[in-house]
Amino acid sequence: PARPRVLSGIQPTADSFHLGNYLGALRNWVAMQETHDAFYCVVDLHAITAGHDPALLRKRTRVSAAQLLAVGLDPERCTLFVQSHVPEHAQLGWVMGCITGFGEASRMTQFKDKSQRQGADRSSVGLFTYPILQAADILLYQADAVPVGEDQRQHLELTRDLAQRFNTMFGQTFTVPAPHIIRDTAKITDLQEPTAKMSKSASTANGLIELLEDPAKAAKKIKSAVTDTGREIVFDQEHKPGVANLLTIYAALTGRTIEELVDAYEGKGYGDLKKDLAEVVKEFLRPIQERTNAYLDDPAQLDKLLAIGAEKARAVAGPTLKAVYDHIGF
Ligand code: ADP
Ligand code: NA
Repeated sequence: PARPRVLSGIQPTADSFHLGNYLGALRNWVAMQETHDAFYCVVDLHAITAGHDPALLRKRTRVSAAQLLAVGLDPERCTLFVQSHVPEHAQLGWVMGCITGFGEASRMTQFKDKSQRQGADRSSVGLFTYPILQAADILLYQADAVPVGEDQRQHLELTRDLAQRFNTMFGQTFTVPAPHIIRDTAKITDLQEPTAKMSKSASTANGLIELLEDPAKAAKKIKSAVTDTGREIVFDQEHKPGVANLLTIYAALTGRTIEELVDAYEGKGYGDLKKDLAEVVKEFLRPIQERTNAYLDDPAQLDKLLAIGAEKARAVAGPTLKAVYDHIGF
């Protein structure tokens, strides 16, 4: 039987992905290449919804793609592409917008959160309709499932509603993706503020480990991670969130279980744990950075891989859009 199809995207909105992105999402993307027919895109259309600098976006799109390849996405085993290279996304996005109710779109809580700073009136219409474009991203590929986190549950529901609505109104066209969230394997928290999630919008740079930062600097951040006043190395997310986060990272990067690590550090102190993890992180970052740089140093090769990816994506997206156009009378 054919492998289930998945679609996932990531925004090129930072100079580097961070350890949270890797352990919570990208690592799963790599694994799913073996079990799924996986489509992965750098969603640059989504990256212009809140204002952007063109040169920076161009650079970040390439750096993002290079990092995805560097962490293990293999163009032979998945379809990796840049969203704007596949015009069907914007085309289907328009159609889906026309079957979305204004009130329905207005109920998306993420817009309310994201637009809070500038106020809804000053936010772009693109930010408002972004969940509709996201629905188009998924439906174009007839994805069976979508590996997203809990925060995307409402958007996934919208995608399902729109797929079912279109199918009912115009005839069977879209696969309705499964309602379940493919859970993140790990929630990584901020090294300085261990109850908050590690995020590119972290309040201090020391809270975040970027895949492309100086490994020695990353090691220092681990060594100065906030823990607690206790001494015992146990996994207790409520009372020892800092230590729990370090153990989570350690386990994820080495393949050892948390229990194994807790046993191994019995009688040792936080300093020992941090020192060892700092080494693990350094050794983890080095090859990723070497491979990322190799892709960035050969722009022609990177362009070629992304062109092949776009072509593979269009081979699926094109027929879907054609069916849509046929059904709606274009
Ligand atoms: P950020 O929070 O830094 O803005 P994004 O929202 O762009 O990151 O997230 C991209 C992907 O990385 C999503 O799949 C998200 O669930 C995952 N992710 C982001 N931060 C973390 C984290 N701290 N722990 C686990 N997964 C994360
Ligand atoms: Na975010």
